[in-house]
Amino acid sequence: MQDPRQQLVASGYDAMAERYRDWSGRVVDPTRDRLFDRLVATLPDRARVFDLGCGAGVPWTRRLAARFDVVGVDVSETQVRLARQNVPAASFMVADLVPLDLAPGSLDAVTAFYWHRRTSRPSSSGRHLRRSAILLFGKGCALPTRHAQAARAGRHPMT
Ligand SMILES: C[S@@+](CC[C@H](N)C(=O)[O-])C[C@H]1O[C@@H](n2cnc3c(N)ncnc32)[C@H](O)[C@@H]1O
Repeated sequence: MQDPRQQLVASGYDAMAERYRDWSGRVVDPTRDRLFDRLVATLPDRARVFDLGCGAGVPWTRRLAARFDVVGVDVSETQVRLARQNVPAASFMVADLVPLDLAPGSLDAVTAFYWHRRTSRPSSSGRHLRRSAILLFGKGCALPTRHAQAARAGRHPMT
C-alpha cells in the first residue's frame, strides 16, 4: 500500500480493532437496521455483495453472508484477520478500496457501514454494479448515552 493516509488508517484500525468491535456492538441505529433489512429483502439468494470497510465482520458481514456471496474488503490486516475468524462463510481481502479494480457489472450490491468518505473513497464503485444493483452506505449513528456525553465533552467516544 503506497498512500500514507491509508497506511495511517490501517495502522490505526490494526491497533484498535478489538476495541472498536466491542464499542460498535453497542451502537444503536434504527435507520441502519431498517435499510439493512430492506436490502436483504430486496436481493435474491446468493447475490454478489461487496462490503467495503468491513471491519471485523460483525454483525453486518456475517448477516449478509448468511444469504449472499459476500466479499469483505478492509485496509486493516487485523480487521480482516478477525473478520475471517468471525465470518468463515465470506471471502475477505486486505486492500485499499480507492484504487480497487473490479470487473464492470459484477456486483448486485455494495454496502459500507461507517466507512468515511473523508478518509477515502472508491473511485468508481458505481461502474462495478449491475444495472439493478443497490448501494447502501451508512454514516451516522446514535451513540449509547455514555459515549454521546463523552463526545460532547470533547473526549473521544471510545475512551
Ligand atoms: C468505522 S470502521 C467500520 C467497520 C464495519 N463496517 C462496521 O460497521 O462495524 C471503518 C473500516 O473501514 C476501513 N477502511 C478505511 N479506509 C479504507 C480504505 N481506503 N480501504 C479499505 N478499508 C478502509 C477501516 O480499516 C475500518 O475497518
